[in-house]
Amino acid sequence: MSERLDWTSLPARALRGEIVVPGDKSISHRAIMLSALADGVSRITGFLEGEDTRATARIFGQMGVCIDAPAAGERVVHGAGLRGLRAPEGVLDCANSGTAMRLLCGVLAGQAFDSTMTGDASLSKRPMRRVTDPLARMGAVIETGSDGTPPLRVRGGRPLRGIDYASPIASAQVKSAVLLAGLYAGGETRVSESRPTRDYTERMLAAFGWPIAFAPGRARLSGGHALHAVDIDVPADFSSAAFFIVAATIVPGSELTLRGVGMNPRRTGLLHVLRLMGANIAEERRHEAGGESVADLVVRYAALRGIEVPEEHVADMIDEFPALFVAAACAEGTTTIRGAAELRVKESDRIAVMAAGLRALGIRIEETPDGAVVEGGTLRGGTVESHGDHRCAMSFAIAGAVANAPVTIRDCANVATSFPGFVELANGCGLALRAA
Ligand code: S3P
Repeated sequence: MSERLDWTSLPARALRGEIVVPGDKSISHRAIMLSALADGVSRITGFLEGEDTRATARIFGQMGVCIDAPAAGERVVHGAGLRGLRAPEGVLDCANSGTAMRLLCGVLAGQAFDSTMTGDASLSKRPMRRVTDPLARMGAVIETGSDGTPPLRVRGGRPLRGIDYASPIASAQVKSAVLLAGLYAGGETRVSESRPTRDYTERMLAAFGWPIAFAPGRARLSGGHALHAVDIDVPADFSSAAFFIVAATIVPGSELTLRGVGMNPRRTGLLHVLRLMGANIAEERRHEAGGESVADLVVRYAALRGIEVPEEHVADMIDEFPALFVAAACAEGTTTIRGAAELRVKESDRIAVMAAGLRALGIRIEETPDGAVVEGGTLRGGTVESHGDHRCAMSFAIAGAVANAPVTIRDCANVATSFPGFVELANGCGLALRAA
């Protein structure tokens, strides 16, 4: 992690204007990975210049893949082919990124060489057996630290075989790790999930010419094919847009347009939930770009009411709960969140971190093992801890916009993992964020 950084978020004026948030993190990771393993040269535009996605690019560089960066947000990847990676020198540092580490488990399990992956303090606490267990069933040998946490030592040269895996956790990272190992496996690999999750790995494998069959909640492929370079245009990240969608909804007088936002249905659960709460969000110019549905979102201030968040939307908004907690704090009445225990093993325990922070700002909130009960109220000023979690830090910044006095947010440096330029973009459309 970079040096310590605290922010103060001051009461905001109405949010106005048009913004473009940075490229999608999930797609940017996968774009690097698949183009590195492809035959030929792939061009990526809209690449997220975040610390997480740059870590993925750096790791493939360590394995001999030549990746040029002709301009910000652009990468030219000279694919090494499925079997063209070289043994890396040194450890592979995944920094703060669970996506990098878990998806790479699948790729590295299929290589001829050994490798070791590490991460920062937050990643070093995150559970990895959810990927190492199914990969072990495929024949992979991956040693974890105590409690199944990183560092991970991946033994190379193990033949992999396809499995039929019913994932007990709704996790695109688990599904993707198994599918990526399946590229190197003999026979067919099948994955089914308890609830459908984002399908970028499946869609991108198909775009790179790998035969794959998939539908919401299941996918299957066989090993022994090749990936062929393609150009990838990464849409704006819905999860980054989410902070501004909530901000414009809760700050009176706002009318904000977000351009070119990725609208994959496995990502946009927050829109359904906010609309159930009374939000005013219009979709304009919906079109396809780079094989993904994108739209401009026009968000206007609206008074929100508390709801029971339907569990069917949880997987489709798993990264948006920190922002939703803030919307719930601003709503009239009670919002109940259930079925979201996964939030406890994200970059931080997001239920505990958001509950503690909102309580410090005067909101009544009760934690449950898999969610929370939030009583909407008046946010007051104070100091909150983000625990180095990028999404919690940005959510508290939004809370500060409607609090009746300044909110200081501690430990915000990790916002650079997913949203470089957040402060400038926020201040440009009406928020008031300062270095504390
Ligand atoms: C991601 C999947 C989700 C999400 C993460 C990105 C991905 O994690 O929270 O930010 O790119 O596959 P899980 O698979 O743990 O749900």
